[in-house]
Amino acid sequence: VAIDRENLTYRGRLVHLVHTRQLTRPLAEDIFDIADMARHLITSRPGAAYLKESLVGKQALLYFVQPSTRTFLSFQAAASHLGMSTAEVRSREISSEMKGESALDSLRTFAMYHDLIIIRYPEAGFSEECARFFVDHDLRRHVINGGSGKDDHPTQALLDLYTLHREFYSRGGIDGKRILLVGDLARGRAVRSLIHLLTRYEGVQIDLVSPPQLKLAEDIMNISSKAFTDIRESEKIEDFLHDADAVYMTRVQSEYDPHIEVPESAIDSYGLTPDRVGIMKADSVIMHPLPRRNEIPAILDRDPRSRYWEQVENGMWARLALIAHMLGCDARIKAG
Ligand code: CP
Repeated sequence: VAIDRENLTYRGRLVHLVHTRQLTRPLAEDIFDIADMARHLITSRPGAAYLKESLVGKQALLYFVQPSTRTFLSFQAAASHLGMSTAEVRSREISSEMKGESALDSLRTFAMYHDLIIIRYPEAGFSEECARFFVDHDLRRHVINGGSGKDDHPTQALLDLYTLHREFYSRGGIDGKRILLVGDLARGRAVRSLIHLLTRYEGVQIDLVSPPQLKLAEDIMNISSKAFTDIRESEKIEDFLHDADAVYMTRVQSEYDPHIEVPESAIDSYGLTPDRVGIMKADSVIMHPLPRRNEIPAILDRDPRSRYWEQVENGMWARLALIAHMLGCDARIKAG
C-alpha cells in the first residue's frame, strides 16, 4: 500500500496530520461537515450510541510531554465519543526515556499497543519524525500533532477555522473577512497555524498588533505577504478594532525565550477592555486559543461577541471529526 510520502496521505485521506499546511480547504470543510453531523448525533441517546460504535476496539495514546488542558481533554473526550479507549504519557520523567530509551524507541513501543498517537511536544519537528518513522517501517498507525513548540498547532487552527466557518456561515463565509491577530505573534503557534489556513480563502485580509519585540516571524510574514494584499501592522489595538470581522487575541508566551522582556505597558497597549470593545462592530467576534492571562478580562466573557468558550467546545468536535476522517469512520457518521 503506497502512502503519498509528501503529503502523508493515502488516496486523499490523511494518514498523519503533522503540519497545518497539509489541511486543504476542501479537506477542512469536509471535517466541519463530519463535526456538524457528530454534534447532531450526540443530541439523542440512539445517536450517541451509534457514534460510540464507530471505533470500538481502537486505542489512542495521548503522548503529551508539554503542558495542556484543552487539547489533551478534548482529544480524550473525542476518542471516548467514538468508542476508542485512551491511555496517556504526560511526562518523560516517568517513562523509560529516563533510563536512556530513545524517543523513537518509546514511540515504537507505543505503536505496539495503539492505533493513534497524539503528540504534544516542546520542539518542532518531532511529530513529523514519528510519522515518517511509521511510514518507513510500515507501521500502520496514525500520528496527530497536538502542538509542537513555537512552530505549529494544526488542530488548534482547525478548530479556529471551524469557529469562523460556523460564525460566518450565514454571512458569506470566511472569504473577504478582515481578521485582526493580536498579541505574541512571534511565538504563538496558534496564530502561525491559523494564518496558513486563512491563506486558503479568497479576499481575506489580516491586521497585526503586537509589541515590537513580538512581531510575526519572517517565514510566516513571507507567506502572509504573498496571500494577503493589504496587511496592516501597529502596536495599538485601537488602530484596527473598528473594522475587524474577528479579533484573535493571544497571550505573551513567556515560557519560551525568557530573555525577551515585554513591559506591562506594551501588554496594556493591546489588551481588550470594555472601552476598547465598544468601538468594535456589533457583529464582530472575539476569539482566543486560551489559556489567557489579562489580555481579555473575565468581564468580557459576557460580551455577546465573545467566542473563546465556543472555541473550546468546537475543538472537541473538530478533533473528533479529524479522528473519524483519519481512521475511516467518517462515511458512517455522515450516514447516521
Ligand atoms: N489552546 C491550547 O492548545 O490549549 P492547551 O495548551 O490547554 O491544550
